[in-house]
Amino acid sequence: MGEKVKVGVIGGGLMGREVASAFGRWFAMRDCPVTPELVAVADLDEATREWFRQVGTVTWLGADYRELLAIEDIDVVYVAVPHHLHERIYLDVLVAGKDLLAEKPFGIDLGAAERIVAGIGDRFVRCSSEFPFYPGAQRFMAEVGSGRLGRVLDIVAGFHHSSDLDASKAANWKRQSATCGEIGVMGDLGMHVVHVPFRLGWEPESVYAQLQKGYAERPDGKGGRTSCDTWDNATLHTTVHIGSDPVPMRLEMKRMAPGETDTWFIEVRGTEGGARFSTKEPKTFWSFRIDGEQQWQRTDLGFGTPFKTITGGIFEPGFPDILMQMWAAFLTERAGALGERFGCATPEEAVRSHRLFAAALESQENSSVVRL
Ligand SMILES: NC(=O)c1ccc[n+]([C@@H]2O[C@H](COP(=O)([O-])OP(=O)(O)OC[C@H]3O[C@@H](n4cnc5c(N)ncnc54)[C@H](O)[C@@H]3O)[C@@H](O)[C@H]2O)c1
Repeated sequence: MGEKVKVGVIGGGLMGREVASAFGRWFAMRDCPVTPELVAVADLDEATREWFRQVGTVTWLGADYRELLAIEDIDVVYVAVPHHLHERIYLDVLVAGKDLLAEKPFGIDLGAAERIVAGIGDRFVRCSSEFPFYPGAQRFMAEVGSGRLGRVLDIVAGFHHSSDLDASKAANWKRQSATCGEIGVMGDLGMHVVHVPFRLGWEPESVYAQLQKGYAERPDGKGGRTSCDTWDNATLHTTVHIGSDPVPMRLEMKRMAPGETDTWFIEVRGTEGGARFSTKEPKTFWSFRIDGEQQWQRTDLGFGTPFKTITGGIFEPGFPDILMQMWAAFLTERAGALGERFGCATPEEAVRSHRLFAAALESQENSSVVRL
């Protein structure tokens, strides 16, 4: 069991529930030194709060998150609310003396992200980004570090949804800049895309952005129509330096990608080797070799997650599994015991992601390459 950590959730929607689900089967973890316990949930919506009554460890439910922050023995707060509320609520969590697992994009824009960072003080803060915890993503990073690639020629990373293809789907806060942010889809999916490249030292030095909007209007869910003004698709053509070589790195974030539901992918190709992982094949890692012929080889990794669980080694991992892994990394790093394992996205990485997205907006505005 190890150390127990009491967690409060602010925002019990899509992601707040996923966290309750992850904690609910923590007994499956074999080597995490910390056990989280969800004790309190704040959400404005009563029906949303009621759902959490089935979670046995929850002893407090309420609409006002400031009351949750006043509960003394809550150690960690997870906040999953619309982006325009990040800055206010994250700073209130920090002022209350709690540690924070923040959701991306970590503030609605660059200025908000910087102000949140300025308020961190000695609290432990990380930003949610779970896809690097897939065994295939972990192997990808190991392959890049192995030196087997030769000279890197190109890099592509992305996250594709098709959630906005259906024009009859009602708009929510993610479709409006006032609540999602001017950066639109980059705020929604961007941190997921840049986390691994940033960790590998692939830091964009310039960006040329191609941004696309989706449907200008959608049903409002109340019988009327409402406007939708966010960027739905973003393709960022960036340049990174690997050693003394400039290398093109394309970053794709799309909410209108026909045929895709939740596809996170990353690929690198070099003169001697390459590596590729996509959640379309969640247990499969592809590596490129030149051995007389040029070959892409597939390796089925099974359930080789960073933190071991009771799950059979041949089984395939999915979203709820990697979310648990991310939480295990957060809690273990907070306890000072992460060691060599991969850590969650840092506030500094979140700010860097915002710098890139702000530059992408400028690039789109002027049809120009923007230097970072
Ligand atoms: N890590 C991931 O894979 C992932 C996936 C989806 C969303 N997210 C992020 O999670 C955050 C929330 O997204 P979501 O999809 O869960 O949204 P959601 O709309 O499903 O849930 C948001 C919840 O916040 C509540 N809320 C709004 N204002 C509040 C307030 N003042 N106090 C308390 N509760 C309040 C709403 O009632 C709602 O239940 C966003 O930052 C989003 O980018 C992350």
